[in-house]
Amino acid sequence: MNDDLRNLKPYPMVELARRKAEVAARGIEVLDFGTGDPQEPTAPHIRQALLDAVPAVSQYPTIKGLPELRTAFADWFARRFGVTLDPETEVLPTRGSKEAIFHLALVEIDPSEDRKTVVYPEPGYPVMEIGSLYAEADLHAVPMTAANDYRMDPSQVPADVLAKAKVVWLNYPHNPTGQDLPEPMWRAWIDAQQEHGFLLCSDECYTEIYFDEKPRSVLEFAREGVLAFHSLSKRSGMTGYRSGMIAGDAEVLARYRACRAAMGQAQTVWTQHASIAAWRDEDHVAERLRTFREKRRVMTDGLKALGLDVYDTRSTFYLWVRVPEGESDEGYTARLLDAGIVVSPGSMFGPGNAEFFRVALVPSVAGCEQALERWRGL
Ligand SMILES: Cc1ncc(COP(=O)(O)O)c(C=O)c1O
Repeated sequence: MNDDLRNLKPYPMVELARRKAEVAARGIEVLDFGTGDPQEPTAPHIRQALLDAVPAVSQYPTIKGLPELRTAFADWFARRFGVTLDPETEVLPTRGSKEAIFHLALVEIDPSEDRKTVVYPEPGYPVMEIGSLYAEADLHAVPMTAANDYRMDPSQVPADVLAKAKVVWLNYPHNPTGQDLPEPMWRAWIDAQQEHGFLLCSDECYTEIYFDEKPRSVLEFAREGVLAFHSLSKRSGMTGYRSGMIAGDAEVLARYRACRAAMGQAQTVWTQHASIAAWRDEDHVAERLRTFREKRRVMTDGLKALGLDVYDTRSTFYLWVRVPEGESDEGYTARLLDAGIVVSPGSMFGPGNAEFFRVALVPSVAGCEQALERWRGL
């Protein structure tokens, strides 16, 4: 086995599933605030679009995807961000953003080159790092903390790292903290991209889960040397469908498209039809947002009433909560687990985060209230 991979910790969500199964085996009903996979049903018209698209004869789908899908996404992007994309060249369907993030480094990184650093946020979504390891890139994690408001700032990254950076990942709204990026910092990243010539990749899968101002897309600020990664998983409650989209620099997308043919990452035709229905509709998105707003209110108020310090943010369905004084994240979350409450210890998102734990607003409002009841008993 590849030595770099042998030393990887278990994938965080796999570890969470293992712990959850352990508690369930003890006969305790588990309230799962671990993995970011909410339980609200997918809108009926999206499910129907999928069913209607299952053909009698099923043949290989294409990497490029159906023109109707690319147009539906480009139309949505123009409505949402005011940016016009060419559906022919500036849009590429994916099987969810996870695989697209993972595979990108395999295309962009040449391990024999000097310039092969991938820069990514920590705490953050682990796939940016893991994909880069598989591609034999050099890694540079940018430590973000409550002290710098979890805002990834190019001035925090040493100039020699930026000079060797091949890919820089941003993720706003940010998993796990829910933080957003202000406009001047988007512009600072575009300036850094233009100065150093790296590929600026923005993971935007949470832009539709917000409770105040609408989050921005990197493509509002530039297109050359820039890619935005979108997904229907969180926006439309379609994690099981595996449907995402990359938009941006046509030249970069052309080489990624060419390489993806061998990766076997074409979206199934029925998923593409369900995705068209999803990108063309905002009602179900507004409905989901109402639900998350309510769960967020219940959990934030409830945790604060328990004396816990909830980090103040405006987006995503995560709460980033400080571990009580004198406890470790592992110890505290293990105690919660004993009471059947699954949350993610901050350390799962990279070293230096042990003062926090993440609560994903997955259970229903009633489940949230039940969890708070148990929490009070601790
Ligand atoms: C920051 C971030 N990026 C990407 C993904 C992957 O999403 P998808 O379901 O589109 O693969 C997740 C999933 O939790 C995420 O939190």
